[in-house]
Amino acid sequence: MNKNNLNKDQIDLGRVPKHVAIIMDGNGRWAKNHGQGRLFGHANGVESIRSVLQGCGEIGIKYLTIYAFSTENWNRPKSEIEGLMNLLVDTIASEVEELNKNGVRMSTVGDPSLLPLNCQESLERMQEITKDNDKIHLQIALNYSARWDIITTVKNISKDVKQGVLSAEEIDEKIINQYSCFSGIPDPELLIRTSGECRISNFMLWQLAYTELYFTEVLWPDFRKDHLFEAIINYQSRERRFGKISEQLEE
Ligand code: FPP
Repeated sequence: MNKNNLNKDQIDLGRVPKHVAIIMDGNGRWAKNHGQGRLFGHANGVESIRSVLQGCGEIGIKYLTIYAFSTENWNRPKSEIEGLMNLLVDTIASEVEELNKNGVRMSTVGDPSLLPLNCQESLERMQEITKDNDKIHLQIALNYSARWDIITTVKNISKDVKQGVLSAEEIDEKIINQYSCFSGIPDPELLIRTSGECRISNFMLWQLAYTELYFTEVLWPDFRKDHLFEAIINYQSRERRFGKISEQLEE
């Protein structure tokens, strides 16, 4: 890792992705490596989010989506779930003012109704305070999974078809985007997953159709903005063809 910001200088600021999505993985292993319990890893993962958000601001990434709690994470030990929810509430309480000052809009994707009440209240407050900010939009995926989103989308489209608001023939990609919980948000150009795992794990399946995937061995609590810059440089070295051939892109 280059400590002198040389990495950042290699970034073409005219071709920075608008939207980066991150599967933050490896907190448990990081904690174990440090002889600590899993929550120690999650707590240290908050510093990584802070650093990445700062990096996004520095190079002009407009949307950052982070996978904080999946619908499958309810299967974890009760103490870890409670610890994660408390960490979320505490982090919002301690960070929201600073983030608000820095123009960060914060919202959630997923079904909040199963989260503890104090968590729901804290998230609502966070969204309300930051709703007019437009420097960067941080979306926290909580009790989220892509299949949940697809099921909810299909149900809501069906309801509107049944009520005559929409006809079945009108259903296209635009309509599906509009009904999904990412409505109005551009698809991510880049997905980062930390900790060496090379899976999508039920994250943004519809939205990732043309996304560049970047996997790194770095465990999430060690991930900093310099690692983000490295991922962006790697992304910029790729040719995004969207089904075309190279020669067509030069036209
Ligand atoms: C994955 O690592 C991490 C999570 C499921 C939780 C991520 C949460 C945070 C970084 C902190 C809370 C978030 C906010 C927005 C304040 P893992 O536990 O699966 O690690 P392992 O694969 O090494 O066990």
